[in-house]
Amino acid sequence: MEPMAASCPDWLATHLQQAGGAVPFSTFMDLALNEPEHGYYGAGRARIGTQGDFVTSPSLGGDFAALLAPQLQGWLTELSTSDPDQRLAIVEIGPGEGHLAQDLISQLRGADPALLARIDMVLVEANPGMRQRQQDLLKHVDSLSVRWCSLEELQRSPVRGVLIAHELLDALPVERLIWIDGALQQEWVEVDPNGSLRSTHRPLPDALQDEINRVSRNRGIQLPPPDAEEGWTTEWNSALPDWFAAVTGAVDAGVLLVIDYALEAQRYYTARRSEGTLMAVCAQQAGLSPLGQPGAQDLTAHLCIELVDDAAESNGWLVGDQTKQGEALLALGLAERLHALQQLPGQRLSEALQRREAMLRLVDPAGLGAFRWLTYLRGLPAGGFSLAAAPGSGECPRD
Ligand SMILES: C[S@@+](CC[C@H](N)C(=O)[O-])C[C@H]1O[C@@H](n2cnc3c(N)ncnc32)[C@H](O)[C@@H]1O
Repeated sequence: MEPMAASCPDWLATHLQQAGGAVPFSTFMDLALNEPEHGYYGAGRARIGTQGDFVTSPSLGGDFAALLAPQLQGWLTELSTSDPDQRLAIVEIGPGEGHLAQDLISQLRGADPALLARIDMVLVEANPGMRQRQQDLLKHVDSLSVRWCSLEELQRSPVRGVLIAHELLDALPVERLIWIDGALQQEWVEVDPNGSLRSTHRPLPDALQDEINRVSRNRGIQLPPPDAEEGWTTEWNSALPDWFAAVTGAVDAGVLLVIDYALEAQRYYTARRSEGTLMAVCAQQAGLSPLGQPGAQDLTAHLCIELVDDAAESNGWLVGDQTKQGEALLALGLAERLHALQQLPGQRLSEALQRREAMLRLVDPAGLGAFRWLTYLRGLPAGGFSLAAAPGSGECPRD
């Protein structure tokens, strides 16, 4: 493997020295994103939106939340009990700029008042810098009670409701695995004698090897694929089981909606995808060096659907409907919403054009439209809580 050189900022060099000079890639990714003073999210440096580093569906405007809101309302109605004092929660984990929460609140204002009165909006944000930005954005919201808390706090008083993880799990630190000399090795990051960051590799630790073996056996994953060439590289998301364990304790009964870049194992762990799915993104540019500009760029890796399902099921969740965003949004009325733009008066033409472009991006099969909507149920019977777009079988259509 060619070493990738990038100068190491002092704050990161200090962390690496404290760790003995080198860390697994997952630790590097965690520091680069979440280090409280210098990390991309930790310091609140991330800028999400068309003027920022990258766009997400909620950052393209309010139409995404307007389409999603009836889906959530339907689930919340299903979750309602006859007890008028029963509280229901919408929990958003990893809210970023707070766009989705803000737009959902404004959509839910039009909801059935009896339902609205029972809903709490709970935001779970691990990074203080991002939490501050969300609080600034949402400080004038008054129609729903909004609070921020950690999963540990929610575990003391578990909720009944809907949980949303929109482009959160792709930000969890991943291990990078490299196929070298007939063995999978773990990527590490260290500082070279010139003060530059470089990647290196070590044998897989037993615990990681055991986890890969267990999940691969249970889910029929062949890792590496039979025709992988020397240097073939991929990602393994070891943080998922702990994340699901923490969420599980926070929920009495509920639906978890994961929306993210995700692939089936046979498309994720294929010889053709020889450099994995990891992306470094800044100023709307992808494909940057993952070791370049730590703390000043986003790092993200696709999800492998089987790994998410495994972590969920191991923690007692039922796998619910799964579909692609394009299909979900069309079933929720995106075409009708696009059509309705024609009714906007002429003086709002630029708004209509901007919203039209944003809605087409949401369903673009080569972009956001290929995102997966994955649902998981806890404390609820199988069969209900379907996704509007799902054919009913729970299967995800193949490309
Ligand atoms: C890629 S951004 C997505 C933001 C937003 N959901 C969107 O789609 O526009 C990831 C967000 O998750 C937060 N985050 C990262 N790890 C987290 C964790 N373990 N728990 C809660 N939030 C986390 C980041 O600080 C950031 O706000």
